[in-house]
Amino acid sequence: MDDFKQAYLLEKAAREEAEQLLADKSRILVALNSELEQKITDLKCHQALFIQAEKMATLGTLCAGVAHEINNPLAYSMSNIDSLKSHCAYFSELLELCDEFVCSTTDKEAFCQRLTQLNRSHSFRAVSDDLPELISDTAQGLQRISKIVANLLDFSRPKSHEKQFSDMTDAVKSALKLLANQLKHCQLHSHFSPISVSWCNLSAISQVIVNIVINASQACKNNDNANIIVSVYELEGRIHIDVEDNGCGMSEQTIAKIYDPFFTTKPVGEGTGMGMTMVYAIVHEHQGEIDIQSAEGMGSRISCIFPVLNQIGLEG
Ligand SMILES: Nc1ncnc2c1ncn2[C@@H]1O[C@H](COP(=O)(O)OP(=O)(O)OP(=O)(O)O)[C@@H](O)[C@H]1O
Ligand SMILES: [Mg+2]
Repeated sequence: MDDFKQAYLLEKAAREEAEQLLADKSRILVALNSELEQKITDLKCHQALFIQAEKMATLGTLCAGVAHEINNPLAYSMSNIDSLKSHCAYFSELLELCDEFVCSTTDKEAFCQRLTQLNRSHSFRAVSDDLPELISDTAQGLQRISKIVANLLDFSRPKSHEKQFSDMTDAVKSALKLLANQLKHCQLHSHFSPISVSWCNLSAISQVIVNIVINASQACKNNDNANIIVSVYELEGRIHIDVEDNGCGMSEQTIAKIYDPFFTTKPVGEGTGMGMTMVYAIVHEHQGEIDIQSAEGMGSRISCIFPVLNQIGLEG
């Protein structure tokens, strides 16, 4: 009996020790896990900061084109305002004259005489023909500027990196709209086939396309017959966004280093070498992959291939 009790006590002590050991290990694991979670949160935060910083650098590249694009409607709106100002003086004089006539401080003959003089200096017909066009052109110019500014603000504003079910075609279209002026030296062709909606961050995808298309247009800058083809389609359950150019193309060494942070072959001030690093981060964040086909002197095709995610982050 004593032996049995002793064995029981020994077994109990051993079990308690094992339980204590397990509890200690669990505590350590919980602590490690929470440290890991904190690290993941920090990493996500750094990635968001990096994407925002890259976006600001891209804005620098876009700025020259955008300034040019705003300049044209701004110039004709300002010139129209000048014409309207001169019409304004003429209308004041006309209204004053009518007022004097209505209040009988001037007689009919003097009124007609001054009216004829006024018509000679500023033809009534010409002014009335001119006015609607001046106003509608100015309104159109200002609308154009406000659209450009809205696009820019949309691009530059830090977006919550939350995803939703969206059609990636919208991101491609908004990127191309933003780049319209930048691409004037190239023939831009776009082909949009219907694709499935997927769990994605549209503003991030748009940033990917802006960067790839800027690269394509920079690669074509010495090409008189520059062509950029952007295609969106779905193949075997995968969403493809291809950007093809007939620019300078890339050597194998360049392709090998293309995602390295700060790798650039462009002159100082023209490239920061962060565009494709950011593209890589965003595409992989969407569980996608990038395929690069390029040959020196022939051009390049950069394809971003995404799975269709039909549940929160799960491939369907
Ligand atoms: N379509 C392309 N045609 C030819 N070369 C390309 C193309 N896309 C990328 N490259 C090469 O890859 C390099 C890295 O591209 P990345 O976009 O990361 O940097 P960048 O364009 O030099 O600078 P930025 O940070 O302003 O984008 C480029 O310098 C260029 O040599
Ligand atoms: Mg680039």
